[in-house]
Amino acid sequence: MLKVGFVGWRGMVGSVLMQRMQEDGDFNGIEPVFFTTSQVGQPGPDIGVDVPPLKDAFALDDLKALDVIVTCQGGDYTKQVYADLRKNGWQGYWIDAASTLRMEDEATIILDPVNRKVIDAQLAKGAKTFVGGNCTVSLMLMGLGGLFEANMVEWMTSMTYQAASGSGAKHMRELLNQMGQLRDSVSSELADPASAILEIDHKVTAAMRGNDFSIENFTAPLAGSLLPWIDSKLENGQSREEWKGFVETNKILGRGENPVPIDGLCVRIGAMRSHSQAFTIKLKQDVPLDEIEERIAQHNEWVKVIPNDKEATVAGLTPAAVTGTLDIPIGRLRKLNMGGEYLSAFGVGDQLLWGAAEPLKRMLKILRE
Ligand code: HSE
Repeated sequence: MLKVGFVGWRGMVGSVLMQRMQEDGDFNGIEPVFFTTSQVGQPGPDIGVDVPPLKDAFALDDLKALDVIVTCQGGDYTKQVYADLRKNGWQGYWIDAASTLRMEDEATIILDPVNRKVIDAQLAKGAKTFVGGNCTVSLMLMGLGGLFEANMVEWMTSMTYQAASGSGAKHMRELLNQMGQLRDSVSSELADPASAILEIDHKVTAAMRGNDFSIENFTAPLAGSLLPWIDSKLENGQSREEWKGFVETNKILGRGENPVPIDGLCVRIGAMRSHSQAFTIKLKQDVPLDEIEERIAQHNEWVKVIPNDKEATVAGLTPAAVTGTLDIPIGRLRKLNMGGEYLSAFGVGDQLLWGAAEPLKRMLKILRE
């Protein structure tokens, strides 16, 4: 029976992972051991099977006794522990949600409905390090995997509309506080249907710009606004989030030698936990739309093609419709004015499920096959 250690299981991604593993009975047939950075010796979580008391997440000897380590603890933990473990001769499987190791040669980015062949080839070569992809990249590939599988994409842009959860739990709270502060700044005017909308707008803008507005985490207003920058700046003017779109997609697809050009703009918006993306796809050929729809729809069991009409789009192609589900709706599929090879698409997906926890959960299952 595989002895599997879990680190960072109490955080947001870790909690979603725990919940999904319990839903699918994934704790049966493994020996789970839970680690902590602050509560050593306290009882482990109630997951329906017996677990030992919490162990120290920095105790190399305890970690070395594991066949598999699944970590959602974050990049700093990976930096502190991973290299030491390997240097000490640990040859177990490391499954990580953080980006730290993603682009290392020894790491395979995991998204098995898209790259099971790459994962299997890496396992056959003895690879032991498996890392979840960036959320927008994973969600894009779950939606458009059928086009990449058929090698139909010449190049692509992705313009993102990313939810607050991508920044973390504190940011989600801050977004809600900002929304509340805006609403509170005009509560009496809203109660009066005759009040002037421009006066309401003026007050809301003043509240947003005021010194009391909660911007500790986002550093700027997000509610009622947006932030067209995610993560740090690279020398070429891209944000790191934008850079990931190209390098990670091609690594996931095993196309390092023959990469598909991908670029775009990453934008934070006031959604809670589902990311959206608008795509412009240059196809290699002018393929009929019904064939495109079929290839997208048949790629995996979670992608859903949404008909390109208003009713279906506003009902099914939104964060509000998708959050908390594994569905990956893809819609707004149409050819652009630029010509028959130019395809427009829009995708949505839960950033904490397919964007974070689900690929890790599934990798653990692959190791048990
Ligand atoms: N970097 C992503 C975001 C989160 O900020 O939305 C996870 O990949």
